[in-house]
Amino acid sequence: MAILVCGGAGYIGSHAVHQLIAKGEEVVIVDNLQTGHRAAINPQAKFYEGDIRNSDCLDKIFTENKIEAVIHFAANSLVGESVEKPLKYFNNNVYGMQILLEGMVKHGVDKIVFSSTAATYGEPEKVPIEENDRTQPTNPYGESKLIMEHMMKWVSRANGVRFVSLRYFNAAGALEDGSIGEDHHPETHLIPLILQVPLGKRDHITVFGDDYPTPDGTCLRDYIHVIDLADAHILALNYLRDGGESNIFNLGNGQGFSVKEMIVTAEKVTGQKIKTEIGARRAGDPAQLIASSDKAKKILKWNPQFADVEKVIATAWKWHKNHPDGYSD
Ligand code: UFG
Repeated sequence: MAILVCGGAGYIGSHAVHQLIAKGEEVVIVDNLQTGHRAAINPQAKFYEGDIRNSDCLDKIFTENKIEAVIHFAANSLVGESVEKPLKYFNNNVYGMQILLEGMVKHGVDKIVFSSTAATYGEPEKVPIEENDRTQPTNPYGESKLIMEHMMKWVSRANGVRFVSLRYFNAAGALEDGSIGEDHHPETHLIPLILQVPLGKRDHITVFGDDYPTPDGTCLRDYIHVIDLADAHILALNYLRDGGESNIFNLGNGQGFSVKEMIVTAEKVTGQKIKTEIGARRAGDPAQLIASSDKAKKILKWNPQFADVEKVIATAWKWHKNHPDGYSD
């Protein structure tokens, strides 16, 4: 029996595929390569270039392979873009989930692990954020992921497709050997943008606001290593295999680092001074987003290995230094 990884050519999906294969799982990938990269596809996985919104494509995959469970990463994930183009997000993310769940029900696949986000919470009521805290997204990206969670909840009750939704905080880092990593176009995430300065690809990093109610005035985020995220998907899969009920878990380190702290740490890792400018706040950025991951630790027995943010940045640096222009394909 194989695991179908939707979006297995993307940043987090490709790391999850790597970990699944390392654990001896059989993996089938479907990816439309809209944001994923052909060069990120693990050669040990069976690959279908296709779109999950195409039910014929899913029928073919479910018919040609014995799929035991789905791990679903295939979605658009840029907060800013989602505000400009909400319908793109409702089409690809929400409608994509609709077709995927229809395919799963039709072909009797009854387990799904879902890539969700801290953006489902919106502005937090308190930190650290717990799974039962208010969910009030402040952008269409977060809204689309929350709707996708709700779809799984109802399908779980009606059709017996059990799900685990994993709400990641700030995914960061790369596989330790530097062979796969983060490559977004456009890049909007803090760590790759900081590292573009020592790579000579950008003159400086702009800090989006230093007047937040935080110790140094810059935003606090909970950076969690992509391999720790990938491992949580495998634990979630095994939890469902063991008969676990549908559930939602936060995934973070539980520790907040400020933008300024991240820049100083990147200077230490790269051994270079990183030119910094202070700019205006970016619309919609909460002052702090920090996870309580106690539930994942307790129920999934998740034990993140990269608690040290310096290690997280060091793995990202290795990837970016070896691939200054990202993937070739
Ligand atoms: N930042 C800068 N300068 C930059 C880029 C980012 O100061 O050039 C700051 C941001 O203002 C923020 C922090 O760095 O305070 C992290 O920003 P990212 O864009 O890397 O990540 P976000 O915290 O905005 O995004 C994360 C997840 C999203 C999720 C969102 C919820 O990556 O998936 O939290 O708000 F939707």
